[in-house]
Amino acid sequence: MNILGIETSCDETAAAVVAETRSVDRPWQIRSNVVASQVAIHREWGGVVPELASRQHIRDICGVVSRALTDAQLRFEDLNAIAVTQGPGLVGSLLVGVAFGKSLALSLGIPLVPVHHLAGHIESLVLEHGEIPMPAVVLVVSGGHTNLYLVPTPGAYQLLGRTRDDAAGEAYDKVAKLLGLGYPGGPIVDRLARDGRDDAISFPVARMTHADRNAPTLKGDLDFSFSGLKTAVVRFVRDQPGELSSGKVADVCASFQRSVIEALLDRTFEATWRHDARSVGIAGGVSANSRLRQDAAARGQRVGLPVFVPSLALSTDNAAMIAAAGLRGYRAGVTAGWELNADASLRIL
Ligand code: KG4
Ligand code: ZN
Repeated sequence: MNILGIETSCDETAAAVVAETRSVDRPWQIRSNVVASQVAIHREWGGVVPELASRQHIRDICGVVSRALTDAQLRFEDLNAIAVTQGPGLVGSLLVGVAFGKSLALSLGIPLVPVHHLAGHIESLVLEHGEIPMPAVVLVVSGGHTNLYLVPTPGAYQLLGRTRDDAAGEAYDKVAKLLGLGYPGGPIVDRLARDGRDDAISFPVARMTHADRNAPTLKGDLDFSFSGLKTAVVRFVRDQPGELSSGKVADVCASFQRSVIEALLDRTFEATWRHDARSVGIAGGVSANSRLRQDAAARGQRVGLPVFVPSLALSTDNAAMIAAAGLRGYRAGVTAGWELNADASLRIL
């Protein structure tokens, strides 16, 4: 079975073909994975401009989908289903993928499978490594989300905690902007931090102790918060006399990064202990971070838990992960009718 995945939730227009294998351990195989990034367009504005993003998706979607088929050496008639990101994300961007996916599925007479973007990030781990030991604790950490899930069985996602304010990637992007480093900030801060001292500045690591009124079903003590850290960086930079030297910039990057990663990994490993997890997964754009990968692997080793991260190509937004989650959903009987609509704040299951 070949499924075409379509992803347009933010600023990447992506399409990919994923095929089912007959292996239980490694259920899916990537046949093509095409991403048209809009980074160059949004860089000029220092962040994603929703209206520009949706317009660019419209320009790119046809070419990206045909390229995904060419790379996979398939024709439209060889597709058996279409998976599309229904949400969450920017509504104008999501609509492009949803409308395109619906039209294609209707014209080919094949099923359409709606996919939650974060389920896609979680399934990127299985796409990369095959089924991981369950129950697993999976941290999805990107520019738009910082969510911690328990995955008790394949395809079941139970939210354990999430950020109360900024996503971790958003904090990276804002700190980079403040330091005048460019967009997107995550990879730049990651690189500069390697030359800095992570104990040069003592930035706070927020720890939630109480439930959030907006999410009373969560205990709240596995939540994250990054806005205080961002403000601490703003204050520190403002209080420095004159321009920051490049050494000081590296120290700010390293110290900021240490605080973010400590918060992410403290909560993640706390959750593994509470839920008797057999593995840890980290997915989403920030999982590309070199220090996060290194520290997560070291902590996993210390407590005897395997830690899984996707390859760099599957960390940031892509459609192969959407196709994989689509296959998971399809096999569980999830398909959509033609009334399917984009949902900017879609909840996971
Ligand atoms: O998953 P993604 O591509 O898009 C969203 O769904 O948000 O994540 C993009 C985010 C951006 O905030 C970017 O700065 C961050 O991932 N990012 C990184 C790194 N590479 C990308 N953050 C820290 N270190 C990195 N190496
Ligand atoms: Zn994402």
